[in-house]
Amino acid sequence: MAKHLSVDRRFDAYQDFVLACKLTWTRELYPALHARYDDELASRRAAGEPLPNSVAAVEELLADDPLAQYFGWFERHLQRMKYSGRHGLVPHFAAHRDELAGELQAGADSGLVELDPGFVQPDYYVAVDIHQHPGGVWSDEVAGYVYERGARTTTPLLDRDADLHHRFTREVLARAPSPRRLVDLGCGFGKSTRPFYTGLRQTEVTGIELSAPCLKLAARTAAEDQARNVRFRQADAAATGLPAGTFDVVTSTMLLHEMPPGHIERTLQESFRLLAPGGISIHLDFLTDDDPFRRYIHYGHSRRNNEPFMPPLNEMDLAGAHRRAGFTALEVLPFEEMPGTLAPGFAAWRFPWAMIIARKPA
Ligand SMILES: C[S@@+](CC[C@H](N)C(=O)[O-])C[C@H]1O[C@@H](n2cnc3c(N)ncnc32)[C@H](O)[C@@H]1O
Repeated sequence: MAKHLSVDRRFDAYQDFVLACKLTWTRELYPALHARYDDELASRRAAGEPLPNSVAAVEELLADDPLAQYFGWFERHLQRMKYSGRHGLVPHFAAHRDELAGELQAGADSGLVELDPGFVQPDYYVAVDIHQHPGGVWSDEVAGYVYERGARTTTPLLDRDADLHHRFTREVLARAPSPRRLVDLGCGFGKSTRPFYTGLRQTEVTGIELSAPCLKLAARTAAEDQARNVRFRQADAAATGLPAGTFDVVTSTMLLHEMPPGHIERTLQESFRLLAPGGISIHLDFLTDDDPFRRYIHYGHSRRNNEPFMPPLNEMDLAGAHRRAGFTALEVLPFEEMPGTLAPGFAAWRFPWAMIIARKPA
């Protein structure tokens, strides 16, 4: 992260305000909308009317409800404010471009990252401004900083987003205690890679990512950590160029929902190719259950946040995709991103976190 930026109190205050609004949306608006929906269900049941059994049916039920409209509008526009408002992330980091150039160069020169100047991004990746981030996380030199700062408030209930990544790291290591080599696909600016390379000094860790600006920031942070056991590489997760059969763990965090299903299939095939016999593939992502209201919320989030591949991931045949890649058994487990979020009474909005786990036969 950018440690040497001059302080801008207006920017900090503006971003704190957006975060406070997002917390209200998470803790108050979401439970209120859920209660409204439950009331509707109760009156339908009492009247002997059919209950909604699909996202479209929930949409129809809530279409004219002011709270549902406010909920959706607030989510979309808070995200827009966060990135593009007067003190949004994009104008803020653009204004500090010169200050950041040296840090980025230090990342590029660290010897920890292999960049490909002629790299051609996949079409699906450049077609959308993901997260409502103008230009996406790849097209501007300072995009990695924008993403790093933005990611701190993506899951607003968590005190420090890093905790989520540490909790996931522990889940991975519970299944593969001391891997010799581990690859983190779609590593972004290195947040998901860092707990592995700092916690496992004997493990050779590789981070794969499309975005050069994110990779430079990841390398810069690793250099500051004085890490010797990590390398970052600009490549597609579906075609990493890494040697076959050499990794004990292939992992990703929040990668699969950013890809169309065909690309997920190819990434699973690549994961299988990279793994040594007996190695484990474990992806952390978002999968809802069949509850129509939870799906309606998740699919709405996908639209409002410019993340079009969340519904296709949710609906694709993941077991079949793993089988076709060569994996024999697939396990999908809920992931508790902070204590208590899987408890039945947990009422606030959260992502439907899930771990997607498979092994290459020994
Ligand atoms: C939501 S971010 C998660 C980043 C990181 N894993 C984390 O947890 O902070 C998803 C990342 O996947 C990258 N990505 C998307 N498609 C990819 C692909 N085909 N190959 C490699 N990286 C990809 C994006 O550039 C983005 O940085």
